Amino acid sequence: MTVLSLSATPVDEARADVVVIAAFAGDDGPVPADEAHGPLVERAATLGALGKADEVVLVDGSGLVRAPRVAVVGLGRRDRFEPDAVRRAAGAASRALAGHATVFSALSTLDLTAAAEGHLLGAYVFDRYKEPAKPPAQGIALLEPAGTQDAEALLRHAVVAAEAVAFARDLVNTAPNDLPPAAFAERAVAAATEAGLEVRVWDEERLRAEGFGGILAVGSGSVRPPRLVSIRYAPENATRSVALIGKGITFDSGGLSIKPAQGMEHMTSDMAGAAAVTATVLAAARLGLPVAVTAWAALAENLPSGSSYRPGDVLRHYGGTTVHVLNTDAEGRLVLADAIARAAEDAPDQLLETSTLTGAQVVALGNRTMGVMGEPGLRDRVAELARQVGEGGWAMPLPPELREGLESPLADMANVNWDRVGGMLVAGHYLSEFVPDGLPWAHLDVAGPAYNHAKTWGYTALGATGVPVRTLLAAVEDLARQDA
Ligand code: BES
Ligand code: MN
Ligand code: ZN
Repeated sequence: MTVLSLSATPVDEARADVVVIAAFAGDDGPVPADEAHGPLVERAATLGALGKADEVVLVDGSGLVRAPRVAVVGLGRRDRFEPDAVRRAAGAASRALAGHATVFSALSTLDLTAAAEGHLLGAYVFDRYKEPAKPPAQGIALLEPAGTQDAEALLRHAVVAAEAVAFARDLVNTAPNDLPPAAFAERAVAAATEAGLEVRVWDEERLRAEGFGGILAVGSGSVRPPRLVSIRYAPENATRSVALIGKGITFDSGGLSIKPAQGMEHMTSDMAGAAAVTATVLAAARLGLPVAVTAWAALAENLPSGSSYRPGDVLRHYGGTTVHVLNTDAEGRLVLADAIARAAEDAPDQLLETSTLTGAQVVALGNRTMGVMGEPGLRDRVAELARQVGEGGWAMPLPPELREGLESPLADMANVNWDRVGGMLVAGHYLSEFVPDGLPWAHLDVAGPAYNHAKTWGYTALGATGVPVRTLLAAVEDLARQDA
């Protein structure tokens, strides 16, 4: 991975293959973010630069700076400026500058955290199956912002966050044939053990012995059996605790309620929630946050076969609630209900659950905004934090009348509402049944934001995005702060 460092060298003296500076989009062309860079931005303007978001224009540095080339990246309009504009610009620069070994960036003077995260996230490549055409930068030096006391600490935090995102992206980008539930579990065990964390794995026998009927049923169609993984970070100075629960469907064909062929390949990303919670607990440990975090990954492969669970089956969740399965493609809530019920037994102070749960989330909010449901206070806070870290989030209600669609004459609940209205919210209702009264909880539906199959933008390549790792990390840090 690309290595970040801090530098106090002025931009015009920096020794690097390319220097990165920024420009806003003004009414009459690009406006330099730092007035001292006017002549460089003018050079970019003659090549058509406007200063728009995601724009990267390479100009000749000769006569103005020591570096041979300068990348002028767009921040968009100044009146709409937010930290994510810097993260996005840094990411776009990193992607555009692949093939340059060393980069010097002045974006850090606008926002050190955002520049560091953006540069690293934009430099991410997944090379398990092929080498990238041009390698990402080996080193990126960030110009140290004047007057910042804690630059080293901010940089380290950004690196931990970006590496957590990369860890989650790696899991999601791994093809489903290479990542059955047991392989995900092994990778989680390896990472947790290396970090010195306690980790437990429920195999299919133990899942059966303890009554995890949802996870077992969803996994029953695959010859590659399901798993439940729990990783615990419990520092001695922790006075509060949070459970993080993630949907880990390593491939979602829909099962017997099979999905259409077109787009089914995207369902390699249906374990993004499990990847995110795994990455987050490891990051919390690396940062030494004074809060206990337990991550739960509910892992199964949803396939049709002679041993699959059926529409019409009645299952018994962990804890005893029965469910009438009307659609085997509504499998996420089935594995999550078991995991939520189990996680709640440990009586955490908060419960955060995340999943690529519904196509309805994408219909309602698109590909860049997660839907956040749950206890109103925590829900609103998490949605706010998602926006702050640039992942995009919006609070969604759980209207009581939508709960009625889950009533079943045969069992405690049905797993879908047949009228199909408000699908994201109905799924939220399903999960809420397994959260004990009084426990603050939030459900983050990241069906769209977790995986990018449209086009690259900012620090987001095609494939896994790593959403919602940075939101979860921010939420855990928020809880740690509440205690102080
Ligand atoms: N994994 C899907 C949801 C999904 C859709 C994720 C698109 C990412 C992109 C989930 O298991 C699913 O199939 N949900 C069904 C629920 C329905 C049967 C009630 C859906 O959204 O169609
Ligand atoms: Mn499904
Ligand atoms: Zn699914």
